Amino acid sequence: MRLRGRKGIRENLEEQKDLVILNPADYKGKWSELFGNDRPIHVEFGMGKGQFISQMSYRNKEVNYIGIDMYDELVRRASDKARSAWEPEGVETPPNLKLALANIEDILDVFEKGEVERIYLNFSDPWPKSKHARRRLTHPRFLDKYKEVLNSLGQIHFKTDSETLFEFSLNSFADYGLQMTNISLNLHRDGINEEHVMTEYEQKFMGKGMNIHRVEVIIGEQALAEYNASRLKKYRLTESTGKQDPEQN
Ligand SMILES: C[S@@+](CC[C@H](N)C(=O)[O-])C[C@H]1O[C@@H](n2cnc3c(N)ncnc32)[C@H](O)[C@@H]1O
Repeated sequence: MRLRGRKGIRENLEEQKDLVILNPADYKGKWSELFGNDRPIHVEFGMGKGQFISQMSYRNKEVNYIGIDMYDELVRRASDKARSAWEPEGVETPPNLKLALANIEDILDVFEKGEVERIYLNFSDPWPKSKHARRRLTHPRFLDKYKEVLNSLGQIHFKTDSETLFEFSLNSFADYGLQMTNISLNLHRDGINEEHVMTEYEQKFMGKGMNIHRVEVIIGEQALAEYNASRLKKYRLTESTGKQDPEQN
């Protein structure tokens, strides 16, 4: 069901009720019911044209995904991407993916406390002027909201090309008292890992030779306990070889 052509964008979205959610606040506390299972819910805030969330849903069928953007046209383009991603399996409606039209400002109206397990922020608008800092999606006023909707395994995975947004974000996470890990200033330094799912912006910036910055932020209590139990293991070296002990990964 590829819906294109003369129809208006909103009309097109209204016809894709199997995939597109135009009234996400109606599903607050009911997303698992909508998916028909209790699998973890991972959300991308600001999915753009939807390549990342579409590919993630196809590759990780044990996770439920929700891609959110505030523009009709981007949700429509993401719906095309999502259906194309699942084409190899002859699946018209991705079973573990919903695309929702919403403003991230309003996510407390969209998700119940603890309803989400992971938030992806990919190439969020950098808002470079300091007078616009409050609009950055990693500003503490957004972290307040993310903390509310994340569950005990909750994490935020953030990547950006913008050095200034990355710097601002690391400070924001630190000042908020959040644990960060797997920080990279050049995610693709050693070449592109096939497992890594790229976003449209990531491909564009890499094509220009720009470095991609990435950090994982651990928020949920259980996630933090698990992290604390293993955080120094990767630094332990075997005495004989001086190499990292593979048992300690
Ligand atoms: C720079 S694009 C990145 C798109 C995509 N994540 C990628 O990496 O290719 C940022 C996206 O975030 C969306 N966005 C920005 N602020 C938002 C907000 N407050 N609520 C919902 N979407 C937002 C924009 O519409 C845009 O699609």
